Amino acid sequence: MNEFKERVVYQIYPSSFKDSNNDGWGDLQGIISKLDYLKDLGIGIIWLSPIYESPMDDMGYDIADYKKINHRFGTMEDFDELIAEAKKRDILIVMDLVINHTSTEHAWFKEAIKDYPNNKYRDYYIIKEGKGKKLPNNWDSAFTGTCWKKIDGLDNKYYMHLYCETQADLNYYNEDVIQEIEGIMRFWLDKGVYGFRCDVINNIFKSSFENDSFFKLANKGDKYYANQKGMFDILKRFRVEVLDNYNCFLVGETCTLTPEIGREFLESRALDMFFEFDHIYADKFSKIPVFRRKFQAKKLVGPIFKWQEEVPWIANYLENHDQLRSVSRYGNEKDFHSESAKMLALFLLTLKGTPFIYQGEEIGMTNISDLKFEEVNDCASISTVATVQKILHVKKEKAWKMINETICRDHARTPMQWSDQVNAGFNDGEKPWLRMNNNFNLINVKKEQQEENSILNFYKRLIKFRNESDILKYGSFERQYVSNKICSFYRTYNGRRYLIVLNFSDEVETYWLKDKLSLIMSTYNEDFHMNALPPHFGGIFEVI
Ligand code: GLC
Repeated sequence: MNEFKERVVYQIYPSSFKDSNNDGWGDLQGIISKLDYLKDLGIGIIWLSPIYESPMDDMGYDIADYKKINHRFGTMEDFDELIAEAKKRDILIVMDLVINHTSTEHAWFKEAIKDYPNNKYRDYYIIKEGKGKKLPNNWDSAFTGTCWKKIDGLDNKYYMHLYCETQADLNYYNEDVIQEIEGIMRFWLDKGVYGFRCDVINNIFKSSFENDSFFKLANKGDKYYANQKGMFDILKRFRVEVLDNYNCFLVGETCTLTPEIGREFLESRALDMFFEFDHIYADKFSKIPVFRRKFQAKKLVGPIFKWQEEVPWIANYLENHDQLRSVSRYGNEKDFHSESAKMLALFLLTLKGTPFIYQGEEIGMTNISDLKFEEVNDCASISTVATVQKILHVKKEKAWKMINETICRDHARTPMQWSDQVNAGFNDGEKPWLRMNNNFNLINVKKEQQEENSILNFYKRLIKFRNESDILKYGSFERQYVSNKICSFYRTYNGRRYLIVLNFSDEVETYWLKDKLSLIMSTYNEDFHMNALPPHFGGIFEVI
């Protein structure tokens, strides 16, 4: 069945969604208590960021036990209840599958670094000998610095960590590892989950361990680990041996992608859809992402349109737990908060492919403007600040300012703003694991529910419309116009055609429409002149 092509997905970041027992961490009972809210919003699938046992060095993307629930979030009984309660509401649950690496707290890793003959776990990880006094190779970690860490007590041996130091990369040359992962997938699918969002999936197979060019600025090594044939073979095997036996789907997180490789993922059935990363550089430099540049709509919409044209299906998103908040980046949070959040919603939900909404996006949650370095939790930001200080010879304050404005992931991770009560209704007053955004008295669910023309109510109307529209669900895509102010595209199905028009600017823009159009839905309530589109306007028109 194709639920994954017809439903809207909502990503929950469990630590920050709803804390039911007032211990500072969101939890599964908290999620259960908000299922009616999600149903009412029109959501058909929930993607849960990792809920497995973990030391939380990378907020759960460092898994210590794949078959245990993180004690902060609850118990396996809570999880079974979540699946059952979601099912009652016809909501499907998708898990995060983090299999490029495990936490160094995982029992496999703890065993792997013990020194005894025929230790079968040694081969579960990528553990290599240093080259004399040098590292095994010159590859980078995605979070800056080398990807190798020396193992205490073992002679000149290092383990690979493409992400943070406590995330050790698994060895996919080892048949046992592949079988373990298949067992984990079956475990959760048997519990009734509807598939997986596969973390950094196109990096799992390393085809060689030689040095990369010393002149590369970052990501040294990716030509040997991104999109390798071995990775496709493993995913195809998962499909045939595991996934084909269930009603489920896979969405891949795939940085470093070309349309050819994207098509190969779909055609080979390695993945059902994937997230591209080209559009996230609309306000920063792709080669050095800590350098900010002024947002240009063309650089956001251009890459999204390209992917719409290049592949038959895709996972669309403007936000997730790794990105800054969209209304702060691509909209105008200060002067046109509501207008621009609605326009971005309309963009996301009218594209071809499956829309992914991130928690808080539906109420226009913003970046946390006054976050101090001392309050930061995000491991990638902390290591990048140190690297930027070293490489650019700048003071910590300057380095933090750069990271804060470009890549700091905590902006998206502040607790969900449910009301204007203590801790925004996230819990009953215990200090949350990450500071709240102070603007919760202005931006919160309760307030949005009470105002007819709120962002939240717009999302509701729009999701309902999408859920019922064959044109938006199945229609083809055709670009019409892209500039830094106005962008527009067509969706066509069975002879009927919609034109979607977006105004990214703070001004009224003149836009001469040639087609004869009738307005179906727009981000503004009042009537307006077609040739004078208000600031941050978004509209769906039927071409007649
Ligand atoms: C993905 C996750 C991110 C995590 C990284 C390493 O990019 O989205 O949060 O830090 O993988 O697992």
